[in-house]
Amino acid sequence: MTIGIHDISAATGSLVFALADLAEHEGIDVGKYHRGIGQTEMSLTTEDEDIVTMAARAAKPILERHGVEGIRTVVFATESGIDQSKAASVFLHGVLGLPRSARVVEVKEACYSATAAIQFGLGIVERRPSERVLVIASDVARYELNSSGEATQGSGAVAMLIAKDPAVLEIEPVSGLWTDDVWDFWRPNDRSTALVDGKYSVQVYLESLEGAWQDYRANGGAEFSSFARVCYHQPFTRMAVKAQQRLARIADPDGESGDIDRLADTVEYNARIGNTYTASIYLALLSLLDNGPDLAGERIGFFSYGSGAVGEFFAGVLVPGYKAQMRTDELQGMLAQRRSIAYDEYRHRHIAYDRVGDFETADETQGDVRFAGIAEHRRLYESR
Ligand code: HMG
Repeated sequence: MTIGIHDISAATGSLVFALADLAEHEGIDVGKYHRGIGQTEMSLTTEDEDIVTMAARAAKPILERHGVEGIRTVVFATESGIDQSKAASVFLHGVLGLPRSARVVEVKEACYSATAAIQFGLGIVERRPSERVLVIASDVARYELNSSGEATQGSGAVAMLIAKDPAVLEIEPVSGLWTDDVWDFWRPNDRSTALVDGKYSVQVYLESLEGAWQDYRANGGAEFSSFARVCYHQPFTRMAVKAQQRLARIADPDGESGDIDRLADTVEYNARIGNTYTASIYLALLSLLDNGPDLAGERIGFFSYGSGAVGEFFAGVLVPGYKAQMRTDELQGMLAQRRSIAYDEYRHRHIAYDRVGDFETADETQGDVRFAGIAEHRRLYESR
């Protein structure tokens, strides 16, 4: 029996802000953003969007195609939690009308936790092959205005169905693991923006990649030269280039496997959406599936990283016919339809983001599910 990703679908916030506009107001050369960090735009959420509404928008096409039968587990990975107790997936369960007979939880470890969620799903399906596990990665990446991370903000969600005999990606059993207790990026409970030691975070990401790779190989993982592509966590797309160069240096110093041109298909969506934390590496996969050549039968590597810090390297093989499963036009349409906002509106929305007490939100989202506001400390959602 093979197990892996049976379906995958994504959504982003309904607003878009161009980094050219940010650079112009900062009085710097836009080349720093376009080439230096490899980002052109960031997706931002409207007042009535959050991790739940984006998750619903990403998951709906999967449920419409496959139904809900056999989905007894929903694991929601996020680091932009909306409640300290109630899991975001319980809100999602409600708005999507999922069956009552389900275990529904939220998991956290910075950008890494969606990979843990997938591993949990693989384990459940291994024990009970008739079951399918819905994994959601959804995040709003926010940094302080005028901080080093500002240009790398973004928002988006990826939903994946983990099942036996998958139609998209068979996930191989070997993983390489790495954890170290460090302060490279974190978000204390009283903040909605992250704190980051930017340069140090890049260094820890690369150390984690080396550590996870060595553990992957020590546990019988495949050679670097056997990967058709590697999808890296992309806090900004240039990070994938640094990662590929580092991995090539240790894993295949004399070969061509580290060719950075091979990354091009994996960065298209992230460059236009920005950091989506837990969803970022799976947006890289979706970008490859939608925009790359047909790589059926080829092995794809994955390096998942979450600050704090945890890294995992694993691999999967693309299933023949996977191209026919893709919803490329829908996601590209969603990106094209985002409402473009200018610098002043971007700054205003950033400052107005943290609202407390009871309030109602303006009707702005382009999705079917909206966050309507808060009444008596309860978050309210509406479906159209
Ligand atoms: P910075 O320090 O302002 O930028 O921000 P810089 O001065 O290092 O410039 C960036 C690059 O642009 C450099 O290239 C410059 O040379 C180049 P590099 O040396 O890196 O190859 N550059 C130009 N290129 C072309 N034309 C120009 C030009 N000017 C400069 N005119 C920093 C960089 C990463 C610190 C910042 O973006 C940041 O703080 N980001 C947030 C943290 C982050 O993303 N870290 C990544 C690793 S940690 C991670 O991935 C986890 C995370 O996703 C969170 C989680 O797990 O939850 C963040």
